Amino acid sequence: MTAPTTTPAATAPTLSAAAAAPTSPAGTPPASDAPASPNALVDPALHADGDPFAVWRWMRAHAPVRRHEAGELPAFWSLTRHEDIRAVYRDPAVFSSARGVLLRPAALGDDPGGGTTLALTDPPRHKQLRGIVADWFTARSVRSLEEPMRAATRAILARAVEQGECDLVHDVAGRLSIYVIGHIMGVPEEDHESLFAWTDEAFAAGLSLASSPRLMGYFIDLMNRRTADPTDDLTSMLVCGLIDDEPLTEYEIVLNCENLVGATENGRLALAGGVQALLDHPDQLRRLRGDRSLMPSAIEEVLRWTSSATHSMRTATRPVDIHGRHVEAGDRVVLWVPSGNRDEAVFDDPDRFDITRTPNRHLAFGGGEHFCIGSTLARAQMRILYTELLDLDARIDRTGPAHPVHSIAVRGPETLPVRLTPR
Ligand code: HEM
Repeated sequence: MTAPTTTPAATAPTLSAAAAAPTSPAGTPPASDAPASPNALVDPALHADGDPFAVWRWMRAHAPVRRHEAGELPAFWSLTRHEDIRAVYRDPAVFSSARGVLLRPAALGDDPGGGTTLALTDPPRHKQLRGIVADWFTARSVRSLEEPMRAATRAILARAVEQGECDLVHDVAGRLSIYVIGHIMGVPEEDHESLFAWTDEAFAAGLSLASSPRLMGYFIDLMNRRTADPTDDLTSMLVCGLIDDEPLTEYEIVLNCENLVGATENGRLALAGGVQALLDHPDQLRRLRGDRSLMPSAIEEVLRWTSSATHSMRTATRPVDIHGRHVEAGDRVVLWVPSGNRDEAVFDDPDRFDITRTPNRHLAFGGGEHFCIGSTLARAQMRILYTELLDLDARIDRTGPAHPVHSIAVRGPETLPVRLTPR
């Protein structure tokens, strides 16, 4: 991993000497031959209506470590290769999460969740916090949730069939994701629809859930109820959990509730994005219909293909050289996950959607300490939804164009209008 360097960061690690890029270490390579300016990566329009994959392809080949100067967003470095993204995920000592894991306008300052929420803490505190909630996300817990998840999926699909035309993102994937996390958090069933409506409103507006006073008020109320009378749900675990023998503050509990529910936006986009991918590739849908043993590899391919988390950000804790580019302590480093998932150095024919692809070493769930805690749950939800959709033996017809989300943080369909007609 280490390579001799003559820069002032001579003692800092170099991420990978082996894959040295054909770039000039003295400066950013000319981007004039790029399909679109790499600067456009900070524009949601490129992700929604353009072709960010063409830009990332160019960057992987010519500028795998690229500096973006400050604008509305602070300056940052872009990483686009699979091996570099993976290496940064696995090195929390050098690449910290505590100052935020998503780009946000400089005018807004640091993320209020910094040092507080699971996603925004560093070791050793991160490990203790993760330990408090981890029980709900183990394979065993997810197995115990299978029946309630299947029942919820059937009810949601029955409602969608009855409706005739529905939006697969809103009416199916979104509702299912929130019902499941609501169940885990201890939200009573009669409140699931309200939880869904409030989160849906915030996601649709591209806002953080913390901006919804009704939602935050609900979490505060739930926390107070569990403080008075703890049960075995996730909110009770946060209320009763200890870090260094100290309970979490109310602020920490509420913000972690918000973070856990907010994280399910990825699940909703991947669930619906998978249906969209299958509808866009009818040959692959036919194969899956004909051979259900392909479900596990199909799910991994959906995860790779949809890559619903568009980027993760880290902040360098000390100077580090990456492919000859000098990253200073305090610099932000942005990992473009969908780019890593289409890296031709790792995936054969990466722009082909192939439900039989094996191996499939995608990075859709991140990596290292912060590897998605909901990954087993998300995979189970995908398996159940796709299985139930196929078992329904309904025709799935698109009734209008799908609209993509306008975001540089998440990707996938904002709406996917379909009609489910029983055969
Ligand atoms: C297919 C769906 C999903 C995808 C693609 C996804 C993706 C990711 C990614 C890339 C990360 C790492 C972020 C980083 O390191 O900066 C992450 C972390 C996380 N995810 Fe997911 N996620 C999904 C579903 C879920 C679900 C259903 C939950 C349920 C609660 C969830 C909860 C979390 C949490 C709490 C973290 C932070 C973990 C930590 O920092 O230790 N995710 N997810």
